[in-house]
Amino acid sequence: MARELSALLTLRDFERAAGSVLDAASWAYVAGGAAAQLTVRANAEAFDQVWLRPRALGGTTDEPDTSVTVLGQRLALPVLLAPTSPQRLLHHGAEISTARAAEAAGSLSIVSTDSHHAFPEVAGAVKGGCWFQLYAYRSREDVAATIALAEDAGATALVVTVDASYAARRVTTWRAGFRTPAHVDFGNLRSLGILTGEIPDGARIDRLPLTWEDLEWIRAQSQMPLVVKGILRAEDAERCLGLGADGVIVSNHGGRQLDGAVPSLVALEQVATAVAGRGLVLMDGGIRSGVHVAKALALGADAVCIGRPYLWGLGLAGQKGVEAVLDLLKHEIEDTLRQLGADSVADISADFAVRAQIRPSLAQGDIL
Ligand SMILES: Cc1cc2nc3c(=O)[nH]c(=O)nc-3n(C[C@H](O)[C@H](O)[C@H](O)COP(=O)(O)O)c2cc1C
Repeated sequence: MARELSALLTLRDFERAAGSVLDAASWAYVAGGAAAQLTVRANAEAFDQVWLRPRALGGTTDEPDTSVTVLGQRLALPVLLAPTSPQRLLHHGAEISTARAAEAAGSLSIVSTDSHHAFPEVAGAVKGGCWFQLYAYRSREDVAATIALAEDAGATALVVTVDASYAARRVTTWRAGFRTPAHVDFGNLRSLGILTGEIPDGARIDRLPLTWEDLEWIRAQSQMPLVVKGILRAEDAERCLGLGADGVIVSNHGGRQLDGAVPSLVALEQVATAVAGRGLVLMDGGIRSGVHVAKALALGADAVCIGRPYLWGLGLAGQKGVEAVLDLLKHEIEDTLRQLGADSVADISADFAVRAQIRPSLAQGDIL
């Protein structure tokens, strides 16, 4: 597999390769979004409407620095692994393989409440720690127990997802007849007693419809830094900071919740302007190359998260596959920085980007 992985030159190569090995229903679940999947496509296509302005003779090194500091932790590249669940669908190593790959590459894994492995097993498999992503199930008592499980296991941040309280209309996933296979489980929900017996159809247990008061209450439940995921408006970002959040993730859940939700990259600029350095701004949705990472940084992100791309690597070769995805992105980011005349990620500022609605047509044979 190592030789085959090195033949994959773009994240789209990983996508095609993963699509050819996964069963059709699992593929539909991973690739799919809500309804007509307009937001899934627009997340990626929004990057094509931002253009980069290289600085002539701007760089002074051929080894640009791709590192960033995120909530006090130094990462080798400005890319984190977004929470996705349950990764056993793709590989038996699931979240443990992903967390180990993130650590090996100097990235960071955000582990979902809906993970296959219980969070303590995942956090215990790495030295540098993981972030825990919270879904609020059933009652405040259960939510408090979920947060305590993560904090006791050493989670280095708590990410609260606010855009998935309600089940979405995942039509393509339904059409493919996706059912959570028997070998896939939900380790946290089992250990907390939230899930007992059979996994319900669509693997969906009702979540609490979160309110701002709940978020304030969640803030008070732990000492962990708090990051709110699923923010698309400046005033919502302000409100998060106002109640003591340390940052936000500009995200529409990879187009999996509201079809027609604004592409993350479009929402990013406004949110980053409002936050104005007072908190962490991450973004996810549609990142498919190092050039995309640079565009997001130029529009105000401190770092980005990827979802599907690392799942492609995981599905192909477990930990090695995720490492290969991160390695490719690191090389692409280095190349982009050199070409831009920037010595480091920190050098990338708003003046590197300009918007223009030009969509070059792809000639046959052009391959991304
Ligand atoms: C298969 C899959 C499962 C996901 N599960 C979760 C989850 O459990 N919690 C969460 O906050 N987001 C979840 N997401 C959304 C991702 O965290 C992220 O927002 C999205 O994948 C980013 O878009 P991208 O896939 O285009 O990179 C999931 C996404 C996918 C593709």
